[in-house]
Amino acid sequence: MHNQLLKKIENKTAVIGIIGLGYVGLPLALEYASKGFKTIGFDIDERKIPILNSGKSYIKHIKADKIKKTVTSKKFFATADFTRLPEADAVIICVPTPLNEHREPDITYIENSGKMIAKYLRVGQFVSLESSTYPGTTEEILLPMFENAPITQNSKAKKFVVGKDFFLAFSPEREDPNNPKYSTATIPKVVGGVTSECLKVAMAIYNQVIVKTVPVSSPRAAEATKLLENIYRSINIALVNELKMVFERMDIDVWEVVDAAATKPFGFQAFYPGPGLGGHCIPIDPFYLTWKAREFEISTKFIELAGEINTFMPYYVVEKAGEVMNKFKKSLNGSKVLILGASYKKDIDDMRESPSLKLIEILREKGAKVDYNDPYVPKLPKTRKYQYDMESVELSKKNLAKYDLVLLSTDHTDYNYKFIAASSKVILDTRNAFERAGVKSEKVYKG
Ligand SMILES: NC(=O)c1ccc[n+]([C@@H]2O[C@H](COP(=O)([O-])OP(=O)(O)OC[C@H]3O[C@@H](n4cnc5c(N)ncnc54)[C@H](O)[C@@H]3O)[C@@H](O)[C@H]2O)c1
Repeated sequence: MHNQLLKKIENKTAVIGIIGLGYVGLPLALEYASKGFKTIGFDIDERKIPILNSGKSYIKHIKADKIKKTVTSKKFFATADFTRLPEADAVIICVPTPLNEHREPDITYIENSGKMIAKYLRVGQFVSLESSTYPGTTEEILLPMFENAPITQNSKAKKFVVGKDFFLAFSPEREDPNNPKYSTATIPKVVGGVTSECLKVAMAIYNQVIVKTVPVSSPRAAEATKLLENIYRSINIALVNELKMVFERMDIDVWEVVDAAATKPFGFQAFYPGPGLGGHCIPIDPFYLTWKAREFEISTKFIELAGEINTFMPYYVVEKAGEVMNKFKKSLNGSKVLILGASYKKDIDDMRESPSLKLIEILREKGAKVDYNDPYVPKLPKTRKYQYDMESVELSKKNLAKYDLVLLSTDHTDYNYKFIAASSKVILDTRNAFERAGVKSEKVYKG
C-alpha cells in the first residue's frame, strides 16, 4: 500500500489536504499547491473560505498574489466541507494548541480534527500532525482514533492497521512569521513516524516541498524536539529578562552587555529582554511538557521558573513606567499612556498572547488612560482573555504630544523613531529600539 502512495507522491498526483488554514497551515498549503500538487484546505472558520477562494489573504505577510496564483491554476481551494477529506492522499493537521484557563493543554482542536479524519479515513491515507504538543499526543490520541475508525469502502469487518492501511507521523512546524531569511520551504523539518513505513511516506511527502527532512525514531521524539526548541527560547529569554533587572540596579545596560557577549564566536547565542513573552508558541508550549511530566512524577523546575520571570515582565515594565513618571512628579494614576506596538513581535499582525495586552490591563488597573498604536493592528481583536474595544490611534505629532508617557512595546521597523522621540514628552523603551535606530534622546528611558 505504501508503494502506491509513494508513487503518487513522486509523480505529484497525490492530493494534499491541510486542516487548519492559519499562520502554519496556509503557507504550507500554498507551498504544495505551487509545487504542482492539488491541495485542499480545510477550516471550520467559514469566513476564511470565500476569502481564500477569491484569491485574497487574511494574514499580512502571506501575499494575496501567491494565493491567487494557486487558486487560478486550480491547484488550491479551501472548504469547510469535511466530507471531502477522502479526496486527500495526505492529510496534514495544523490546528491550534492553546492552554486552558488552568494553564493545561487544550487539545480539543486536535481531538476534533482526529475525529473528523477518523470518520472519513480511507485505506492508503497518510496523516501528519504538525501542531505543537506534548510527547505522546500522536500515538496516544490520534492512533487509537484511526485504528478504531469504521472501514467504509468494503464490507469486510476489519481494523485499520497503522503502517499498512494508513500511515501516521508527527512533524513539528517551525514557522517564524515574516522572517526574511527562512520560510516554510527552507526550514528543515523533523519527522517521526509511528512505523518505518509511516516515516518513509512522511519523508517522501515533506521532501517534495521542504529543503531537508530530519528523521527521528518516533513521533514522541519529534514532539519532544519541538518542545526543546521552544523551552530553550523561553528559558534564555527569562535569563536575559532577569539580568535586565539585576543590571539595571547596577547601572549597567543589558543590551550593551548582550551585544558585547554576542561577539564571542562560539558558545553564546544572543537573546534580548522585552516586555514579556508573546505568540502562540513560547509562552504556551513549555507548559505542555510540564503537564505531561506530572504523569511521570517529575516537576519541570526550569520551565516553571522561566515562566515566572517572563510572566512578571509586564508588571516590571509598569513599575518602571511609574518610576519614570515619578521623575516628572506625576503618577500613572490619571496619566495618559500610549503603547506603541500591539503585536507580539515586530513587523507582524499576530496579537496572540501579546504582552501589550497585559500592559494595557495593568496600566488601567493603576488608573492610567491607555491608547495604542500599531500599523498592522488597526483594531484590537477579541482574544480568549481580553476584549478591548480599542482602535489604533494615528501617530501624528499632535497626538504624540498629548500623552504623558509613550511606552514602546513592539519595535516595528516602520516606526520613525526620530520623529516619535522628537514629538513625545517621555518614552519608555522596552526593546532598546530607539538606540538601535540611532536616536539618542534624554526623553528615552529603557526598561
Ligand atoms: N504561528 C506560528 O508561528 C507557529 C509556529 C510553530 C508552530 N505553531 C503551531 O502550529 C499550530 C497552529 O498554529 P497557527 O499559528 O497556524 O494557528 P492559527 O490559529 O493561526 O490557525 C489555526 C486554524 O485552524 C482552524 N481550526 C481550528 N479547529 C479546526 C478544526 N477542527 N478543523 C479545521 N480547522 C480548524 C482555525 O479556524 C484556524 O484557521 C499550533 O499548534 C502552534 O503551536 C505555530
